[in-house]
Amino acid sequence: MTSRQIRQAFLDFFAARGHRIVPSAPVVPHGDPTLLFTNAGMNQFKDVFLGTGKREYTRAVDTQKCIRVSGKHNDLEEVGYDTYHHTLFEMLGNWSFGDYFKEEAIGWSWEFLTSELQLPKDRLHATVYRTDDESYEIWKKYLPESHIHRFDEKDNFWEMGDTGPCGPCTEIHFDRTPDLSGGPLVNAGVPEVIEIWNNVFIQYNRTSDGTLEDLPSRHVDTGMGFERLCAVMQKKDSNYDTDVFQPIIAFTEDLCGKSYRTELDHPDGVAMRVIADHIRTLSFAIADGAHPGNEGRGYVLRRILRRAARYARNLGLTEPVLWKHVAILC
Ligand code: ALA
Repeated sequence: MTSRQIRQAFLDFFAARGHRIVPSAPVVPHGDPTLLFTNAGMNQFKDVFLGTGKREYTRAVDTQKCIRVSGKHNDLEEVGYDTYHHTLFEMLGNWSFGDYFKEEAIGWSWEFLTSELQLPKDRLHATVYRTDDESYEIWKKYLPESHIHRFDEKDNFWEMGDTGPCGPCTEIHFDRTPDLSGGPLVNAGVPEVIEIWNNVFIQYNRTSDGTLEDLPSRHVDTGMGFERLCAVMQKKDSNYDTDVFQPIIAFTEDLCGKSYRTELDHPDGVAMRVIADHIRTLSFAIADGAHPGNEGRGYVLRRILRRAARYARNLGLTEPVLWKHVAILC
């Protein structure tokens, strides 16, 4: 399947289950001073979770542009040197606002991955928060216990920032090892076993003094890494080998006359991955109203711009070339 077909399949699957398809929010979270950039699909629904806002629907689905280069979620230094972190990525998400909860959320995740996308069941692992027996029992309907793992707050309690709606989560990981031996590698930070989908059960609000308050209702907030899912579906070891990134990389190759190298430590490969990643972040952030500058959000963008330009020079590209890549994104 192409990346476009995968994205559409996700939206259609949840629309058929009563979810309203909503647009991505801008990557600049206008109106939320706690964030420099939109870092998750749930940001635009924060008011609904907190009980201070309402929508005319109780189920939603979208694909959200997310930037993780500041604050609690920051992947900048990994980018270029691994196969699956990005400064900007798309997050496929479905939500329940006080409507369905764990049973449906987990069941539909499983159905989408294994029936709709036909991913092999024996390559899937689930993680649950250490005390979340309810999610553990639900997963037992789908997975053997050797594929269900308990983790603590660091991996299975999700928070958008220092404050805000949060809760325990259950994640789905994909095992790429040839012999299906990836169980011990879940959450080990290696490309052989990667997290693809997180289902958060939003029940609390973290206040500025650090306490957890119960929310008036319980909600579901999910996020699946679109580029990672494309890599898995297209049987690629690296997100950069998918149709999401290949056209950008091919353009850089043409400009500099060098071939893309997939080795993680090859300087030309690193440089082309950095450019392919950063040009997306810069383009979407600027399109959504941010500008490179000297402070705050602008300074983060300026750092990304300078990092991309530095790696372009490493490829021998001394003239300004980043702007030329923008046309490839359109
Ligand atoms: N909000 C959750 C996440 O970003 C789904 O992982």
